[in-house]
Amino acid sequence: MDPGNYTRVKEFIFLGVTQSQELSLVLFVFLVLVYLTTLTGNLLIMVTITCESHLHIPMYFLLRNLSVLDICFSSITAPKVLIDLLSERKTISFNGCVAQMFFFHLLGGADVFCLCVMALDRYMAISKPLHYVTIMSRGRCTTLIVASWVGGFVHSVVQISLLLPLPFCGPNVLDTFFCDVPQVLKLACTDTFTLELLMISNNGLLSWLIFFFLLLSYTVILMMLRSHTGEGRRKAISTCTSHITVVTLHLVPCIFVYARPFTALPMDRAVSITFTVIPPLLNPMIYTLRNQEMKSAMRKLKKQMRRSERL
Ligand SMILES: *[C@@H]1O[C@H](CO)[C@@H](O)[C@H](O)[C@H]1NC(C)=O
Repeated sequence: MDPGNYTRVKEFIFLGVTQSQELSLVLFVFLVLVYLTTLTGNLLIMVTITCESHLHIPMYFLLRNLSVLDICFSSITAPKVLIDLLSERKTISFNGCVAQMFFFHLLGGADVFCLCVMALDRYMAISKPLHYVTIMSRGRCTTLIVASWVGGFVHSVVQISLLLPLPFCGPNVLDTFFCDVPQVLKLACTDTFTLELLMISNNGLLSWLIFFFLLLSYTVILMMLRSHTGEGRRKAISTCTSHITVVTLHLVPCIFVYARPFTALPMDRAVSITFTVIPPLLNPMIYTLRNQEMKSAMRKLKKQMRRSERL
């Protein structure tokens, strides 16, 4: 098709999560609760880490970074999905759609790279306990966090710059509830086979590689812990299993969504919902319910607040 000779679609229409009004309402209530819990849980983590000076170590600074990322990540899709659940016409402008894809992959990428930095941090703490403080200095941690943002940015920009030049001339109905690369790519009025392959390798292969790399790292860490004893070992194992759970919950849905040809499967929508709303929610849950240090810090904070109320 001659690229100068068509009018580009102005907006996309979402088919949405469901056509049924009752189900929409139920989902609306459910997702509002999930979203609010995500926001409060992650904010609570941020406040606790900020207020408790004995949590001012790289591991918790990284966790606070992850909370910030999770709040932003869920705010890219959740509010729009919530509004759409209550409206008849679910549309998004072309630019809005591109922006959503861009930020979704920027933050999603940064999130995953941040998980890698957290794994590296644990590896250093356990393999080089004596040099840990000098190795994971404040400056180096910040560099690593900046690097994970840059990584997310590159990952996202590559996809958007491949997608933007395509002609979007005709069909504008997306069988989903937010803009993501696989569904939008399908609407381009051109043969997208090669591009699909590129996107699969960018998203899918990356998810696989990072997932294996992280599982391997934590296996190595757990093996190293076998020679340790006592309280430190118990704490380290508990931290590592929390990390492994978070990593699995972040990456397995990514692999499912991206590491295959972009043909729709019946359970796609269920998976999409899962991986947009659940990981940011589980993060605070896992850390607050499983981590003794976090739990006691929160209890202390609560006591302090009560005391200041009484004054
Ligand atoms: C992110 O991590 C860096 C490095 O540890 C830290 O200096 C910074 O305060 C963290 N940012 C947030 C918002 O937690």
